[in-house]
Amino acid sequence: MRLSAPSDPKEEKRYRHLSREYNIAVIPGDGTGPEVIGEGIKALEGISRKGGPRFRLTCYDLGGERYLKTGELLSNATLSELKEMDALYLGAIGHPDVGPGILEREILLRIRFELDLYINLRPVVLFPGVYTPLKDKGPEDIDFVVVRENTEGLYAGGGGFLKKGSPEEVAIQESVSTRKGVERCIRYAFEYCRNRNKDNHLTLCGKTNVLAYEFDLWNRVFHEVHKEFPDVAINYQHVDAICMWMVKNPEQFDVIVTNNIFGDIITDLGAMIQGGLGIAAGGNINPHGTAMFEPIGGSAPKYAGLNKINPLAAISAAQMMVDYLGEKQAARHLLDAIKKAVKDDVKSLEAGKMGYGTKEVGDLVVGYL
Ligand code: IPM
Ligand code: MN
Repeated sequence: MRLSAPSDPKEEKRYRHLSREYNIAVIPGDGTGPEVIGEGIKALEGISRKGGPRFRLTCYDLGGERYLKTGELLSNATLSELKEMDALYLGAIGHPDVGPGILEREILLRIRFELDLYINLRPVVLFPGVYTPLKDKGPEDIDFVVVRENTEGLYAGGGGFLKKGSPEEVAIQESVSTRKGVERCIRYAFEYCRNRNKDNHLTLCGKTNVLAYEFDLWNRVFHEVHKEFPDVAINYQHVDAICMWMVKNPEQFDVIVTNNIFGDIITDLGAMIQGGLGIAAGGNINPHGTAMFEPIGGSAPKYAGLNKINPLAAISAAQMMVDYLGEKQAARHLLDAIKKAVKDDVKSLEAGKMGYGTKEVGDLVVGYL
């Protein structure tokens, strides 16, 4: 991967002192993943060219194509390499010729679990100029963040069949919540809420009326950890009610913390009210280790190779990664560039309706850096 260092060696040396360099694992993945990641990389190179940090990129060809060719999903050796990276940048995992769940479980979820990326951070922010299907709601109303637990719950994979294939068949799917897992997620959410410093308001999203054991634990831990954050106001809402309020009064939310499956579901709803999968990005984070950033839309195979898919979600994921690495100024510049492109240029965030191709949207953002 070409790094955008100045060519004059004397200048290069001076430049090295000024800027930091980060090791990034790039996993373009399947479908439109490589196209959108290409545009994200252009944005990262643009940042470096403007005197910001530099990124040493190592590409990993994980995904459906490789699995179909070699049978390999994710080796332990690759996993050890990924663990040493400053961050991971992922396009999309999912291939029409591979059965459901194989790539997801063995690549995406395995990385989340093995690297203990226990936070899935998903901002739901409507940028000025972006269409939302919510009538009479604007950027001042849609501006919150979902903190999703990312290593437990139904995703832990516990369960099994009894009498499989018989008329008396039983399928059991277990949701696992550990004290440690719940507490570290909730503590992160409080800290995040305090640092975000918007309304200083944290909502616990659960289902205490039915999931009596799981959310009894979540609720107790929520109130205990709250004692460490008296400056943060709290409330509780059932997940079904949250879905309703996200549509009716999204302005009431600042930070929402929830378990793995509820976080998965409500963030797709969140993506829709912020303008769609063309813009929604997230980070899988271990606050004491590494982190992986990704656009939350899938591999969209029907758009692959057509230069039609919207790269802004992937560029936004890159933006979150730069921010996570501590490069606050570069992250702000990239965010401003994304906002300018959506406000002034891009006609719609939907694939094929942007008024530009994938590459041209990437160029617009880089041009605004
Ligand atoms: C997501 C995705 C994944 C999830 C799938 C692909 C396993 O929907 O990142 O939200 O359920 O976590
Ligand atoms: Mn999902």
